[in-house]
Amino acid sequence: MAGNEPAGTTRVDEGELGAVPAEIVARVDALAELIRYHNDRYHRQDAPEIPDIDYDLLVRELQDLEAAYPQLVSPDSPTQKVGGPVSATFAPVTHALPMMSLDNAFDREELEAWAARVAKGLDLADSAAPVGYTCELKIDGVACSLRYEDGVLVQAATRGNGKVGEDITANVAGIEVIPAKLVGSPPAVVEVRGEIYLPIATFDALNEAQEAAGLARYANPRNTAAGSLRQKDPAVTASRGLAFWSYQLGVVEGSPALGSHAEALDWLAEMGLPVNPERRTADTIDEVVAFTDQWLEHRHDLDYDIDGAVIKVNTLGRQRALGATAKAPRWAIAVKFPPEERTTKLLEIQVSIGRTGKATPFAVLEPVFVGGSTVQMATLHNDDQVRLKDVHPGDTVIVRKAGDVIPEVLGPVLSDRPKRMKRWSFPTACPSCGEPLVRPESEAHTFCVNATCPAQQQTRIEYFASRGAMDIEGMGESRVALFIEKGFIANVADLYTIPWDEVAGLEGFGQTSIDNLRSAIEASKQRPLANLLVGLGVRHLGPAGAGLLATHFGHIDAIAAATAEEMAAVDGVGPTIAQSVADYFATDGAADLVERFKAAGVNLVGPERSEEPQVLAGMSIVVSGTLEVYSRDGAADAIKSRGGKNPGSVSKKTTALVVGAEPGASKLAKAEELGVPILDEAGFEALLATGELA
Ligand code: IVH
Repeated sequence: MAGNEPAGTTRVDEGELGAVPAEIVARVDALAELIRYHNDRYHRQDAPEIPDIDYDLLVRELQDLEAAYPQLVSPDSPTQKVGGPVSATFAPVTHALPMMSLDNAFDREELEAWAARVAKGLDLADSAAPVGYTCELKIDGVACSLRYEDGVLVQAATRGNGKVGEDITANVAGIEVIPAKLVGSPPAVVEVRGEIYLPIATFDALNEAQEAAGLARYANPRNTAAGSLRQKDPAVTASRGLAFWSYQLGVVEGSPALGSHAEALDWLAEMGLPVNPERRTADTIDEVVAFTDQWLEHRHDLDYDIDGAVIKVNTLGRQRALGATAKAPRWAIAVKFPPEERTTKLLEIQVSIGRTGKATPFAVLEPVFVGGSTVQMATLHNDDQVRLKDVHPGDTVIVRKAGDVIPEVLGPVLSDRPKRMKRWSFPTACPSCGEPLVRPESEAHTFCVNATCPAQQQTRIEYFASRGAMDIEGMGESRVALFIEKGFIANVADLYTIPWDEVAGLEGFGQTSIDNLRSAIEASKQRPLANLLVGLGVRHLGPAGAGLLATHFGHIDAIAAATAEEMAAVDGVGPTIAQSVADYFATDGAADLVERFKAAGVNLVGPERSEEPQVLAGMSIVVSGTLEVYSRDGAADAIKSRGGKNPGSVSKKTTALVVGAEPGASKLAKAEELGVPILDEAGFEALLATGELA
């Protein structure tokens, strides 16, 4: 370094561009190396270590630095290259036209900036003439190029590094939806680019099989698709149920005259290639955003993963005029959805004590915005899961939150693990009462077995008062804690003998709030018996089982007196639930609670037994979409009152799927895949009347 330069500054280039601070040079090198490492994990090993968003941010940072210091751009920078290294397993294929990557837009502003560049590039900037776009889904799978000569599939290749890919023809031949022969009048040569993916229903089934065989679950459909595709044995690939969506033309010789990308896609579909139906054209960015917003909301209705939308300039002439950079076409942009997986720090692992005494470990996370909300806690289920996931406090971990599903810690980013980190071990004493925690043999869970443990009392009472049980408004976490602390309540029956004159002396309890709370407790005495049963927090007993027992036995005394066998004989009540309920009512504590409920005037009587003929006994009917005559609850009641079950999702056990307007696409796809009969509303009415599938 030259003698009189300020510290931390180096001259990599003595020309006009001037000095580049040493830390920038170091950061550019470090970023390039990190990106190469993650490219290799993703493209060659099919085992990415970090979520896409973290990768995209690394690339962004490098691009920004290279834009600010162009003298640092080297020809082998990852920003100048597509994809990853080519593996040795498959023969190399040189693409006739390179398979390019796409630039990303992460928000509307970036999308508009792209649209402005396009308009400028086409000299349309100041005119009112619309550019004209196509909007497609961005399928999260593995890019593939198919070459048809005279209508016959002759070669299939991965993207590889964009110029040279891998020959996967033998493996692609086993993908059912990819035609070996095109129909209609195929041209002399057509190369079709698209995405190979694994349908979610197939992925779930594959994982069920893995679990049944005692093998590890696959992480996600994309990696599983990539791994399935790059099998040495094509029979293994064929067995995996991969699928394909076409989205782009490569080299074409002898095609009909095509003016636009939309026409090209229609043409591919006419020749029998699978083209995703969820595509449209748009004239304005508002229309484009309507498309991306719609799919952001409905992404989980699809039977495949998408991670955004791809917007392309529709006119092929305009595409040619715009051309491409080294890496990506200027006429297309990927609009990326906000991530459902992100990395964050695992600060510590704590244990919470549930109402049954179950000790559940959970991750305390550095707050992270993922899947539409800020996540700072995630369950780790039990000791075995902590071990399986191999997470240590202090780790960088991947957190996933998809749709309405509760957040999940997927695993650590091992390359980020600090040295000499301590493994976490399950505490031996209850964090609430200090009594020893017990893990029964052959149980996955650990328990606090102290019946008077304050944490258990607290959660039991909160649960009893919660909406799905006795629905006592105003009896939330802090009031329950306060009343326990004051000694007013120690169990759920105590709620009906609260010493109100003493409550009146407490800070924050004016006459109005006391009156409201008292009347909420009073109102809870009239709740259906099933709600009371749910509120007792008997292990394994949920609302469905509670409803069946309440209806069948008609009174809490009859349930308490029933044997496990008698309860298991009720259709829909399994032996596990029956045994658990019988065990519960055999305790002195339960008998005492029932006596005190009686004294308080709590409803202990079940509903009248249904008068409907039980034509749906043993059947399981799923409803999806909006029906005309029945509301969602009305349809559920109609099914249950006839002895049927009405679960929320389609499985092998489903008797029929009833569909109204706008049914969920994934339910439909699953029903079709499993061969479950699909009924419209008329078919549903017939089923209710006769118990027969029309
Ligand atoms: S067009 C030259 N359309 O996303 C443009 N790509 O992140 C070629 N992808 O490499 C790509 N869905 O593997 C296009 N509807 C779609 C797509 C799509 C998914 C993939 C493709 C591409 C990657 C870029």
